[in-house]
Amino acid sequence: MFEKLTEQAPDKIMLLAGMYRSDPRDNKIDLGVGVYKNAKGETPIMRAVKAAERQLWDAETTKSYVALIGDGGFHTAMADLVLDDSVARDRVSFAATPGGTGAIRQILELIKAASPDATIWMSNPTWPNHPAIINYVGVKFATYSYIDPETRNVSFDAMMGDLAAVKAGDVVLLHGCCHNPTGANLTEAQWGEVADLLQAKGAVPFIDIAYQGFGDGLEADSFGTRLMAKRFPEVLIAASCSKNFGVYRERTGIVMAISSTAKASKMTQGMLSSLNRLNFSFPPDHGARLVTMVLTDDALRKEWQTELEDVRIGMLGLRQQLADALRLETNSDRFDFVAQHRGMFSRLGLSPEQVERLRVDNAIYMIGDSRFNVAGLNAQTVPIIAKAIAEVDR
Ligand code: LMR
Repeated sequence: MFEKLTEQAPDKIMLLAGMYRSDPRDNKIDLGVGVYKNAKGETPIMRAVKAAERQLWDAETTKSYVALIGDGGFHTAMADLVLDDSVARDRVSFAATPGGTGAIRQILELIKAASPDATIWMSNPTWPNHPAIINYVGVKFATYSYIDPETRNVSFDAMMGDLAAVKAGDVVLLHGCCHNPTGANLTEAQWGEVADLLQAKGAVPFIDIAYQGFGDGLEADSFGTRLMAKRFPEVLIAASCSKNFGVYRERTGIVMAISSTAKASKMTQGMLSSLNRLNFSFPPDHGARLVTMVLTDDALRKEWQTELEDVRIGMLGLRQQLADALRLETNSDRFDFVAQHRGMFSRLGLSPEQVERLRVDNAIYMIGDSRFNVAGLNAQTVPIIAKAIAEVDR
């Protein structure tokens, strides 16, 4: 039967990660996959997570199953973190999932079951796994403009123009913060305008929030998600703990689905539970438990917030350093947007050929669309990278 299989297009982020690993050059620089790295190039276990892990090692007495939708403590802790009091809790249904990707997948299956004719609207560009999973699940999709190729800022008028075609019941996928891959984000006023438009259309917001705390801080980064939760009868939220808790390999994510009433929420909850059972039965528990412990223990939470804030401020500093170095090297302000963007990524606006030259000539790895991981920079590599970028851009 396997002869019938067709070649699958590799995910471009994973493909690049493999190429980086097999490059023997000592001076190689990884600005590819979105994994946080400190100045030494390491991805450390966060202090609070390590401390929780030690406590858990002592306290855990069984590895028996938890529940199909995961642990209730995790649901509450994540709802507190992401939604706060923006919506009545009895309208929110939950499912813990293997990572944020698992949450996206379950939400798409939920949409397919509930509203098979809905079109899912994605920003152009978006995280490449969004269209890949949407295609695989087999739901209809459309794209809306997002980025101005000249200024590298959000092309808000074009975005609103495209979203004017959204039909009642369509689902609009928005990045909660730290847009991946562009680093360009909606202002609070623009979130309000998007909410007005989608409300007028009768659309359902679907928020993918994978970088809370990496942009403008934990509270500011949840602004858009909470606004939608407050204003809409139905909202779909996929949250990831991979980045802000650094628990990548533990696969820790959650679906939070807001229904119009507490009664309707029971049906949604039942469907989420069934979808987990059908796809993988029980979600992983270890990462979710660590996250819950960190969020609910005062000392651990304080430690985590301090470290997360250090990560955020560090990335802002690296953004500024790169923008300054590029100013110097190119004698222009055209890369100033790098300092204004937020989150782990920006796209430089280089051609695939220029990106390829950076890899071949300088061992600098970024995604072919010129997305680079800010956390891959450090004080030593910033001048080298800026010089190489200016060279290929000449
Ligand atoms: C990324 O965009 O690099 C990260 O979200 C990692 C991934 O799974 O693609």
